[in-house]
Amino acid sequence: MRETNKVKRFFDKRVNKFDSIYDTKKKLVWKVLDFIFRKSVERRFELTCRELDNIRNKKILDIGCGTGRYSVTLAQKGAFVYGIDFSQEMLNTATGFSKDKGADNLCVFIYGDFIDYNFNDKFDICLAIGFFDYIKEPIEYLKKIKNLTIERAILSFPAKWHLRNIIRRLRLKILDCPVYFYSRLDLEKILKQSGFDEFSIRNIGRDYFVIVKI
Ligand SMILES: C[S@@+](CC[C@H](N)C(=O)[O-])C[C@H]1O[C@@H](n2cnc3c(N)ncnc32)[C@H](O)[C@@H]1O
Repeated sequence: MRETNKVKRFFDKRVNKFDSIYDTKKKLVWKVLDFIFRKSVERRFELTCRELDNIRNKKILDIGCGTGRYSVTLAQKGAFVYGIDFSQEMLNTATGFSKDKGADNLCVFIYGDFIDYNFNDKFDICLAIGFFDYIKEPIEYLKKIKNLTIERAILSFPAKWHLRNIIRRLRLKILDCPVYFYSRLDLEKILKQSGFDEFSIRNIGRDYFVIVKI
């Protein structure tokens, strides 16, 4: 099976489990486990919301939008958001979530593989959060993001040297889903090779939180 199909299948089967990370009313045991293993998911969400404060009428592309948590939150701040994902199950949840929150008039969800999809237009801001974990050759993706972005892009990359990676690597191996990790040096290199000159890289535990300016 192709690597991308493995990722697609992985997310199609784990929509609720993935989305529960954002659930503030979950059981204590899950709160503790998410705190230990997935704290940076919460952290990158907070940092993105803080960075994207004044975004009324901005056009945003949410790459690997998953269950639409970012897309809907940003639409609620007045942005026009396009979310793309190749997991139909994730998109079904995203669509339902945007309707529940009354944000469906500002969100468009696209089914497709980001790298193959032909966008007609550029976006003020591109987001790719929790996306590069599953990308084997990030440079062509980053070059595409650069071409599509007018202002800035916000990205996350899983950090290479982290003790919890042993468990994550093992878990995803068992579940037959590929995962890729990055050192700060790897990141600086691939960002430069992709044509980005201005960027900030911040370690937030399990992830690097990256902002690139165009
Ligand atoms: C960890 S989830 C992150 C979802 C969301 N960005 C968040 O942080 O809540 C990664 C998502 O990327 C999607 N994805 C991975 N590779 C993709 C690709 N090449 N094209 C479109 N979607 C992709 C997966 O289907 C999955 O929904």
